Amino acid sequence: MDVTVYSTRPYDRAFLAAANDRAGAPHRFLWLEARLSPETASLATPEGAVCLFVNDIADAPAIAALAARRVRLIALRASGFNSVDLSAARTAGIRVARVPAYSPEAVAEHTAGMVLSLARHLHRAFVRVREGNFALDGLLGITLAGRSVGVVGTGRIGLAFARIMRGFGCRLLAHDPAPSAEAEALGVRYVSLTELLAGSDIVSLHCPLTPQTHHMIDAAAIARMKPGVMLINTGRGALVDTAAVIEGLKSGRIGHLGLDVYEEEADLFFADLSNTVIRDDVFARLLTLPNVLITGHQAFFTEEALTAIAETTIANLSAFEAQGAPLHEVAAE
Ligand code: NAI
Repeated sequence: MDVTVYSTRPYDRAFLAAANDRAGAPHRFLWLEARLSPETASLATPEGAVCLFVNDIADAPAIAALAARRVRLIALRASGFNSVDLSAARTAGIRVARVPAYSPEAVAEHTAGMVLSLARHLHRAFVRVREGNFALDGLLGITLAGRSVGVVGTGRIGLAFARIMRGFGCRLLAHDPAPSAEAEALGVRYVSLTELLAGSDIVSLHCPLTPQTHHMIDAAAIARMKPGVMLINTGRGALVDTAAVIEGLKSGRIGHLGLDVYEEEADLFFADLSNTVIRDDVFARLLTLPNVLITGHQAFFTEEALTAIAETTIANLSAFEAQGAPLHEVAAE
């Protein structure tokens, strides 16, 4: 079928085209660098599908504009679907598909990388050594073995992360409304969010962004955390209230912060802004702090994950074309 791909980067094109070729080239792509908006929706090929990434906002106006082009399917090349207004899609008769699991280990390993970098100040050591500064002052780290790690959300990624941290000899706490037997078999102890925050040296967020989880880490939650806690968010930016986190960093309550996602990332990430002035003062403030490590929504970005995303996206499109329903449908509740 005809597929209009929004927010296309060279790697999206390479991996999607290769997966389509391997499947016998059943789909025709229109590659757009633009993000989806009510205006750019008018570029979608009529009667086809649109393929979206995390910062393409399919809100009610964008969906109405897609419906005006008689678009039939939104195929997300991502697992999170918080960017799509599912009830607007249902009303418009547009089906929604996603890639539920492509490489949970890719995200979990990046998360563990952030923990290690922050625990041993590797991001600062790298810069110091390049400048010929071999002093150790300021680089005093923490040993991970024996520390408590709180995993918020033990789905595919949270479980993979718990497995890695278990390997480091950490004690594991978790909070999830749907506890996993596999996590319990690993030695994970399920507790309330309050207990997790009070008992963890490292808190890592792996739950989806929903109205219930929006700003789950706010000023009140931060006040419950252990002084000097390490907070890692590779889930979705709006799980944390960034202004409250900055206050927590300033007071020392938060000792280390690792972010791969940011509430207002749509205006920043996935683009080279090195020649421009960053206008987001909250983000700019975070960049000034030595105990903050930020990556630009990179946790998923491995060869294995991009291959799996492309293959599942092609399978979603092909199933929709053949049977009228994508392989991995997301529907409004
Ligand atoms: P999943 O659906 O396998 O697991 C999510 C878990 O969160 C489930 O066990 C669910 O019960 C739990 N949960 C729901 N509400 C909760 C709450 N209020 N408190 C605690 N736990 C709660 O999803 P998966 O594949 O593990 O992905 C998790 C999230 O990671 C995605 O929703 C997405 O936002 C994010 N993600 C980030 C990526 C990145 O590159 N940074 C890449 C892929 C996903």
